[in-house]
Amino acid sequence: MSVKPASRLRGKDLVGIDPLDPGEIQLILDTAEQMRSIAQRPIKKVPALRGKTVVNLFFEASTRTRFSFEVAEKRLSADSLNFAASTSAVTKGETLIDTALNLEAMQPDFIVIRHQCPGAPHQLAKILKSAVVNAGDGAHEHPTQALLDALTIRSKRGTLEGQVVAIVGDLQHSRVVRSNVMLLSRMGAKVRVAAPPSLIPFGMEKLGCEVHRRLEDAIAGADVVMMLRIQLERQGRMNFPTPREFYDFYALTPERLKLAKKDALVMHPGPMNRGVEIDSRVADGPQSVILEQVTNGVAVRMAVLYLLAGGQGEPTAD
Ligand code: CP
Repeated sequence: MSVKPASRLRGKDLVGIDPLDPGEIQLILDTAEQMRSIAQRPIKKVPALRGKTVVNLFFEASTRTRFSFEVAEKRLSADSLNFAASTSAVTKGETLIDTALNLEAMQPDFIVIRHQCPGAPHQLAKILKSAVVNAGDGAHEHPTQALLDALTIRSKRGTLEGQVVAIVGDLQHSRVVRSNVMLLSRMGAKVRVAAPPSLIPFGMEKLGCEVHRRLEDAIAGADVVMMLRIQLERQGRMNFPTPREFYDFYALTPERLKLAKKDALVMHPGPMNRGVEIDSRVADGPQSVILEQVTNGVAVRMAVLYLLAGGQGEPTAD
């Protein structure tokens, strides 16, 4: 499967992986590779988005996504406005739509949104003129996370095609797994997922992955093992007996990692629950690329903003 990069993104927004075709995914990854070089310069800034304004509208906690969008915006010379729900008029009962319409009245170019409700970015994309970027909506999608994960795998392996990627952990509450399965399978990787039965969403296999109940079956011979956080805050009722028991059966330990390929990459989107889904000896071990994922997050978010602004060609000139 040879994928020719698209010349531009077709949509106004990036709300999910589903609307992207392989050529557009290739374009974002290629552009992100160019963006990565900016971080190696003494002055890590280019004027590509000078005069553009980005509202970072975060209704849920975030460290990596929020800060990497902000770093990306600053590196592209955009003006960033950061919204925190806890100090906004949302605390007085203002709705998401009213909040967004009022912010749009200040004429930003982009709205980056993280929201607990699946579909919130899609709703805003329909009514706003600004480009809307989904920074995570409930358990639905996290498209820039999947793009940075794909960039990390491609950078290490040279290709996504044919890579066997095992994704293990809390599938039920994970937006990362949904976006990753769609993206990786679309780009020719073979994706396996594993979780206790109570943490496997109904119809998971329809996304384009093999579904397993045992971690060992998913990671055997894998090129990449991606662990997902147990989202303790989203468990309405406990879907497994205790974190200790989860560790006993589903954590990635040095012994279990030996089942994957000898040089398999270890990934985690963060934040990690050390000692629950991942053992510190693996998280901090030689096969871990977890912090490289974070570095690549800045490059991917720069690429997404640049391309949505209509950028084409060499983005990295001073
Ligand atoms: N991976 C990720 O979305 O992390 P944050 O919640 O810290 O943004």
